[in-house]
Amino acid sequence: MSNAPDPSINVIFGGTGDLARRKLLPALARLVKGGHLHPRCRLFAVATEALDDEAYRKLAREALAAAGFAAEDIAPFIGDQVHYQCIGRGAPEDFAALAKRLAELEETHDLPGNRAFYLALPPQVFAGTIEGLGGAGLAQSRGWTRIIVEKPFGRDLPTAVELNRHVHKYYDESQVYRIDHYLGKETVQNLMVLRFANTVFESIWNRDRVDSVQITVTEDLGVGSRAGYYDKAGGAIRDMLQNHLTQLFTLVAMEIPSAYQADAIRYEKIKVLRSTRAIDPSKVVRGRYTAGTIGGHPVPGYLDEPGIASGSQTETFVALPLYIDNWRWSGVPFYLRTGKRMPKMLSQIAVRLRATPAALFDSFGARHETSDALVISLQPDAGFSLHFDVKVPGGPFATERIPLDFRYAERYPAMPEAYETLLLDVLEGDQTLFVHSDEVEQSWRLFTPLIHSPQPIHDYPAGSWGPPEADALAIPESDLWQETWDGRK
Ligand code: BG6
Repeated sequence: MSNAPDPSINVIFGGTGDLARRKLLPALARLVKGGHLHPRCRLFAVATEALDDEAYRKLAREALAAAGFAAEDIAPFIGDQVHYQCIGRGAPEDFAALAKRLAELEETHDLPGNRAFYLALPPQVFAGTIEGLGGAGLAQSRGWTRIIVEKPFGRDLPTAVELNRHVHKYYDESQVYRIDHYLGKETVQNLMVLRFANTVFESIWNRDRVDSVQITVTEDLGVGSRAGYYDKAGGAIRDMLQNHLTQLFTLVAMEIPSAYQADAIRYEKIKVLRSTRAIDPSKVVRGRYTAGTIGGHPVPGYLDEPGIASGSQTETFVALPLYIDNWRWSGVPFYLRTGKRMPKMLSQIAVRLRATPAALFDSFGARHETSDALVISLQPDAGFSLHFDVKVPGGPFATERIPLDFRYAERYPAMPEAYETLLLDVLEGDQTLFVHSDEVEQSWRLFTPLIHSPQPIHDYPAGSWGPPEADALAIPESDLWQETWDGRK
């Protein structure tokens, strides 16, 4: 157990909810299986249902079985080290009872007082829960105390500032872990390695060599069972652009940090956001899927999904360019695009290099204006490829565009899940893959005007690559959105 972090009590608020069942319990179970959790760690679930410890253990076992865990992997994790407490209406006495029980458990099991509070809760109860914890003295302990806040962190800039105020009333920033699960993905972490462990890319990573960058995160899924949240608090801008795509954007654009450490990295990401130009609303395209076909199956339009308010103006697609006014990126457009019910799941970053200046091979089919591209594929099919021209052997003289390819799956068959990485980082006290308060506020500063004065919404059929306006407005004709980069435009 030498490399497992010190024992702690891991408290999950919302312990009976969807996120806990589908992501957190499986991630913790994998950490236990891998020997990464100290054997004296305890899991403490909190929710509003009136359950006892045994009933919660049953629920947790069922959740893990549904997630594909075998009985022999569930048993070592879900036993008498798992506890449950009903938080009732979340009144001060409920939090006081929680504090008392935590202290008793630490006493009984000789634990050092390390506590992680995970808020796997609907965003509207974040502030109340933080107040409840702080009011019951649960911001400090004999050991360390850390609080993990799920996204969405705020609904716009004022609400994010307000939520940060609640958090900082009790917890200092070094105790706060704001989750963006994209940062836990191996392929996203690899972005920094690709850029900063290899000299080959750094010399071309600037306005002199890069023509444009396209960041695409699409899903074939629709809004599914999350209509209630998505229609009111979500939409593509809040649900994906402000967090996940912005993280990818800052990781691609940031300067080289002084160290591979949380403060140094987060500082550089914040600088990118500070240098990002206010968004031109006329270039922002919002879309909403109508009925269509995905994988040969008919699917309903967004407005006909169960639970969506009639006349809803929530977007399921957004596309726009961002510009960074600094020395490295001045004049280079970063095109961002995300949507639901698109032809397939695709997360990729395409760095398009400037075209060669002379047309030496044009008459042989190699259009010099077709630039080389480094395409970093995050999911599915994680890896990257460099697309460039080679001579086709023999005659007549011809050139062909080919990819130089690396696929994770071919070399590394097993990849940890994002939540597994992030939960372990919390226990180790590493904030590198978590979002700083300034970062979240800077990001909302950029996107809040788009939420408060929304652009008109354009329909696109489910199964298409978004509304045609995204081609006309968000990106100039000379660039064009691309899903594949191995052919010519
Ligand atoms: C979540 C969004 O944060 O990310 C969802 O709320 C979205 O709407 C999901 O489907 C996408 O995550 P992933 O890891 O499947 O790309």
